[in-house]
Amino acid sequence: MTDELVALLMRNGFVAPEEEAAELRAASRGNLDELVARRLTGEPLAWITGSVEFCGRTLRIAPGVYVPRWHTESVAWRAVERMPRGGRGLDLCTGSGAIAAVLMAERDARMVATDLDPKCVACARVNGVDAHVADLFEGVEGPFDVVTAVVPYVPTADLPLLQRDTFTFETPLAYDGGADGLDLARRAVEGARRVLRPGGALVLELGGRQPETLALDGFTDIRTIRDEEGDPRGLEATASTPSPTRQ
Ligand SMILES: C[S@@+](CC[C@H](N)C(=O)[O-])C[C@H]1O[C@@H](n2cnc3c(N)ncnc32)[C@H](O)[C@@H]1O
Repeated sequence: MTDELVALLMRNGFVAPEEEAAELRAASRGNLDELVARRLTGEPLAWITGSVEFCGRTLRIAPGVYVPRWHTESVAWRAVERMPRGGRGLDLCTGSGAIAAVLMAERDARMVATDLDPKCVACARVNGVDAHVADLFEGVEGPFDVVTAVVPYVPTADLPLLQRDTFTFETPLAYDGGADGLDLARRAVEGARRVLRPGGALVLELGGRQPETLALDGFTDIRTIRDEEGDPRGLEATASTPSPTRQ
């Protein structure tokens, strides 16, 4: 028999009402009605419960912080593959520190991370990540074995097409990638070339056909990352070994 909360969520168009009802109940401290009322406004579930599952781990999520998406897991797992045990990594645009936390747990990686939003940096620190308020590579020194980034990559003109809840609750800072969506991705490529050791990996989330269009001078072995359903979700590329200088 469907319980009342599940039925309410279902009526309001939530696609996983049983799971959401269970999470809301688990997060409730005698204030279930208040939590449900917030959810019915479209506020992200993780902001209400304070946590989300990512790559099989529980991450703390503070209100206002970008909630890591399931499709980013395929990007995180590629970064795990590319990270030597105990290696050094940089996670740009870290948000909650999701990717950095996975690399620390899976590879004992020594991670640093940056984000422009102080709320995100505070949240990433709660998740154990050495995060700093900074613009991409500002204040960061290489060399790194792996640079990861989920930069904002939505073309500015497409921002109004995002889901209503995204548009209502989340900040354009997490999404707006400029005219073609690639402004920050280009800066990430350029900076990664400077801070990666030769042979190190850049692992970047992108959308749609962006993995095919982004120029990757200074990188070799460029591969598209696909999710479980085969959809392109980003790319990985290897920093070229500099050719020996002539004497
Ligand atoms: C799409 S979210 C990704 C967050 C996290 N990596 C994840 O996958 O859950 C993009 C993040 O980039 C941050 N950001 C935007 N512009 C930035 C910049 N110039 N330098 C550093 N971080 C930036 C935003 O604050 C936001 O947290």
